[in-house]
Amino acid sequence: MSVAPEHTATLLPGKPVAEAILADVAERVARLKAASVQPSLATVLVGDDDASAGYIRIKQRQAEELGFVSPHRHLPADATQADLHRVIEDFNADAGVHGLLVQYPVPGHLDYDLALAAVDPDKDVDGMHPLNMGRLALGLPGPLPCTPAGIEALLAHYEIPVAGREVVILGRGATLGRPLSILLAQKRPTANAAVTVVHTGVPDWDRYTRRAEILIAAAGVPGIIQPEHVRPGAVVIGGGVRYEGRRLLPDVDESCATVAGAITPRVGGVGPTTVAMLFRNAVAAAERQTGRRSG
Ligand SMILES: NC(=O)c1ccc[n+]([C@@H]2O[C@H](COP(=O)([O-])OP(=O)(O)OC[C@H]3O[C@@H](n4cnc5c(N)ncnc54)[C@H](OP(=O)(O)O)[C@@H]3O)[C@@H](O)[C@H]2O)c1
Repeated sequence: MSVAPEHTATLLPGKPVAEAILADVAERVARLKAASVQPSLATVLVGDDDASAGYIRIKQRQAEELGFVSPHRHLPADATQADLHRVIEDFNADAGVHGLLVQYPVPGHLDYDLALAAVDPDKDVDGMHPLNMGRLALGLPGPLPCTPAGIEALLAHYEIPVAGREVVILGRGATLGRPLSILLAQKRPTANAAVTVVHTGVPDWDRYTRRAEILIAAAGVPGIIQPEHVRPGAVVIGGGVRYEGRRLLPDVDESCATVAGAITPRVGGVGPTTVAMLFRNAVAAAERQTGRRSG
């Protein structure tokens, strides 16, 4: 007797999406340079956390590959909030610096949100400055938060229709779930969805996720999404992750591929699109500040 092969969802890797975004960024950087503008993305790191230092190095290397210059300030682990703000203000005041990234997290005695609020909103490449979150909520132009924008780009790249469809997001965090819910409900062809956000205040959240045509995990709780929470054939996007040391533990259990129609891979799904959006924000910042908006 033959056994029907187990269904496996189509994979939605982030790398081709990121490559397409970065190719566009590289062209825009080249156009700026041809107009004698040297795009610049500054980075600030506080403390000696190996993982953070590694992330900054990767971003700097990629910035340089794309044609940005990338001035960097490294503050010691015992730097004060005032020390950090002085560095931010120096970069804010430097007209040659178009984008500014303060690496998260900062040592426990420092307030990251306060530092982020001190960044010039027009240089905020994370798109997380309170003014930029306000612009997002009001539908005004400005840098978009990288992970939500990366998810929208991923859906668009794979030509997954979003408009008019039922999207359920598990998680209402400030980095991902909340801004994503605003973004995907906006009146644009790649958004325009019926968005529902569920969280710990909705104990029977699976009642909602089971009817989602597009399910986005944004909780940071390893394995919280299991096959029984997924509508057969749904698109499942794994945004939430937790790190245990260097091990990445995603919200979406791999077994969901047996039920979903399409799914991001365990590694290399949303992550690469997030980084690409950082550079898209950086080149857009350089264009805005020098009056050379692209296309
Ligand atoms: N892939 C990437 O590139 C990338 C980039 C950025 C962030 N992330 C990940 O995205 C995730 C979300 O980050 P964030 O800062 O936006 O979120 P957050 O502030 O950590 O919030 C998590 C959300 O999930 C909800 N939640 C947690 N446990 C739950 C449970 N058992 N049942 C139902 N809801 C639950 C929380 O509900 P309450 O509000 O009720 O507490 C909250 O709304 C994190 O895992 C983060 O690592 C990924």
